[in-house]
Amino acid sequence: MLIRTFTPFPILKTERLTLRQLVVNDEQEIFTLRSDSEINKYLDRQVSNTIDDARNFINKVNENINKNDSLYWAITLSDRNILVGTICLFGFSDENGKCEIGYELLTNFQGQGIMKEAAEKVINYAFNTIKVQKLEASLHRDNQSSIKLLDKFSFRNSNELDKANPELICYQLTNSIDNFK
Ligand SMILES: CC(C)(COP(=O)(O)OP(=O)(O)OC[C@H]1O[C@@H](n2cnc3c(N)ncnc32)[C@H](O)[C@@H]1OP(=O)(O)O)[C@@H](O)C(=O)NCCC(=O)NCCS
Repeated sequence: MLIRTFTPFPILKTERLTLRQLVVNDEQEIFTLRSDSEINKYLDRQVSNTIDDARNFINKVNENINKNDSLYWAITLSDRNILVGTICLFGFSDENGKCEIGYELLTNFQGQGIMKEAAEKVINYAFNTIKVQKLEASLHRDNQSSIKLLDKFSFRNSNELDKANPELICYQLTNSIDNFK
């Protein structure tokens, strides 16, 4: 059984980052993340066309957190208190002891190791606090930046094809004490 109690919201800290809950004030950055063509190039999701879409998205995310259905963190730089990206855990399966991970960074903040730092913390949280046994990431087969990130944590291609979209691949990581060696 997974331990899914997301209230109070789990704020996570790393050397450079604070991972906190989204607030409506984040709407401009969320709008950019969900409308920028480069960031969304490989993502199969509904884009935000207006600031209202971004605000509605934030409210939906926070409703899901209140229901313990998913977790969604704003990644902020601790010293400047600015939002640079997001990272989330969703699609929890109590039966199979697993969930999915998703992430994105504003283009100006890519190439600095920010997502590696955030993902390490969130992966540890998923395994050690929520007690998932397996993490999955569904991604476009050409999304090299994402594959590179997943490789760093020893995620492996499950070779399971998504029948609905053959361009998607599924990477998996099983909980093991060797993951972070
Ligand atoms: C996927 C994504 C988050 C990866 O971002 P990223 O910036 O490449 O990943 P990291 O933050 O871990 O940074 C790694 C890079 O920073 C460099 N780097 C610089 N300083 C570093 C530091 N202090 N520590 C670690 N790496 C550092 C690394 O060398 C690496 O560069 P490289 O890719 O040229 O080898 C980003 O490409 C993105 O947001 N894409 C759009 C959304 C998306 O596709 N999400 C995935 C959905 S499945």
